[in-house]
Amino acid sequence: MCGIIGYTGSKKSLPILIEGLRTLEYRGYDSAGVTVAQDGCLVTVKSRGRLTDLEAKLSSSGELYGSAGIGHTRWATHGEPSDKNSHPHSTEHLTLVHNGIIENYAEIEEMLRGAGYDFVSETDTERGAKLVDMFFAKSNDPIDAISRAIKVIRGSYAFGIIFKGFEDTVYAIRKDSPLIVAHDGEGGFIASDIPAILKYTSSYYRLDEGIIAKVSTEKLEFFAPDGSAAEQKLETIDWDIEQAQKGGFPHFMIKEINEEPEALRKTLEPRIRNGLPHFGIEAIDGELLSQFESIHIVACGTAMHAGLIGKAIIEKLARIPVNVEIASEFRYRDPILRKRDLVILISQSGETADTLAALRHAKAQGVYTLAIVNVIGSSVAREADSVLYTWAGPEIAVASTKAYSVQCAMLYLLAVRIALAAGAIDEPRARQICDTMLSDIPTAVTEALKLDRQIYDVATKLVAAEHLFYIGRDVDFALSTEASLKLKEISYIHSEAYAAGELKHGTISLVTDGTPVIALTTVGKVCEKTVSGIREVKSRGAYVVCVCAQGLVGKYDIPCDDMIVVPEIDELLATFPAVTVLQLLAYHVSALKGLDVDKPRNLAKSVTVE
Ligand code: F6R
Repeated sequence: MCGIIGYTGSKKSLPILIEGLRTLEYRGYDSAGVTVAQDGCLVTVKSRGRLTDLEAKLSSSGELYGSAGIGHTRWATHGEPSDKNSHPHSTEHLTLVHNGIIENYAEIEEMLRGAGYDFVSETDTERGAKLVDMFFAKSNDPIDAISRAIKVIRGSYAFGIIFKGFEDTVYAIRKDSPLIVAHDGEGGFIASDIPAILKYTSSYYRLDEGIIAKVSTEKLEFFAPDGSAAEQKLETIDWDIEQAQKGGFPHFMIKEINEEPEALRKTLEPRIRNGLPHFGIEAIDGELLSQFESIHIVACGTAMHAGLIGKAIIEKLARIPVNVEIASEFRYRDPILRKRDLVILISQSGETADTLAALRHAKAQGVYTLAIVNVIGSSVAREADSVLYTWAGPEIAVASTKAYSVQCAMLYLLAVRIALAAGAIDEPRARQICDTMLSDIPTAVTEALKLDRQIYDVATKLVAAEHLFYIGRDVDFALSTEASLKLKEISYIHSEAYAAGELKHGTISLVTDGTPVIALTTVGKVCEKTVSGIREVKSRGAYVVCVCAQGLVGKYDIPCDDMIVVPEIDELLATFPAVTVLQLLAYHVSALKGLDVDKPRNLAKSVTVE
């Protein structure tokens, strides 16, 4: 997620821009840049890497003393992290920073090439900047140029812009990406988030979608796209910077769980075109896909658990065998790989050493590799034959949450695409699944988040546990593996995920009076069977929490002590709200125990060693 800051006022802008970007570092970034307006020029300095790299570059450039400027930290989406892909992007008439994704950037590029524009970067943002430039060249009116450009642009954006001839004014607009606007009496600010302006003022406007902000030293003005004046609501907060970075949540983990509806939307929307999955990758959209005879999904930890969900859905829809492998095993056990196999690597960071080694092993065998990765330009993304980015934004908590949900979403889309290519489902069925995913998954996850209080109450009953079990069948078993990992890694309670029918083959001897068992029942066809498993543990004294799909409540007599009802959704998609419930449960147990939720002991966010 990119960070935007802009300032115009009575002070020098550069220190304010750098300081502002520093407070936005938590959003994650791979490059940074600033433009300062001075002496009628827009001077831009940008650099791949950290803010310290930008500062090193700035110290060897001429002095930037202008009192208006914009700054940006970039989390790459289109084009690898590099100096030229960094923002601000400057054109003949303006300089612009952007947070979001312009979906129709290719169409815009074609239009602009026709009008004589060339491009120096691979970014969607440069296309957006040149589009605004084209309109501005005709009218010399910033508000008119912005209004016309946003009529053409599809996707999400928060833009900060300074136009030549209007160098002491910063313009801003947003859609589906955050942006606030503020004034401290001596100058005006735009920023992606509150921490960037907190040092100067605690009052701000959260810019409404489609409203253009005109920020000057004296005042803030707001305009509707037709140029008429608009009103915005002033808000005030009393958070400190750290609280503000967490969006007012006590931990990054809970903030990131709450970001799931948005992250899922960002992953799904751009990949569904005309009602069908569309990845913009020839190999995956075209002929090659129909030629794969079997699939290996290779990953570690949570990403591997997403692979288990992927196996279930791909096999169900496409009827192609899928093998899920732990990367550290795959790389050494000489797996059987055939020319017509597909190897899918899943990784949030794209830097996990075992996953990277597994990828290299598969490539050395001449097998086609597809990576599902969150971090743009990471090693796994660069080395795989194709890559699908999940666009969940940076994940800061060590325990992966939103990244898992979007990995699952991407695997669902892939499953539909593979099933279509294999002729296992027809187009109407594929359209119906895509349609339901897009309309229902973010909504059901939002509903699941509303169960927070009930989940907290259940968590209070688990904090004293030393051991517990998650049980389920079919997809619920796959989901249990992730729920169990989430709980144990942050709460330090020993937990195991068990296929509900397997307990009685030995492990049930561990279930005694009060042993907590979390039972998952979201799959209708095996629900009755899981209920038998629940009876077995209940009759040995277990304290049972059932996480049950709404459609199955009341159909069976489930002997549980507490029930959390997963919000209604097509059974095929119940995984999504169910996992949110389970992540919240793990979170609350850890938080109630007073543990360091975001940085559990012995763990690192990115495991780059074997
Ligand atoms: C657990 C967790 C880990 C990672 C694993 C792989 O919450 O985050 O299990 O999933 O280390 O990491 P990536 O996805 O970066 O390859």
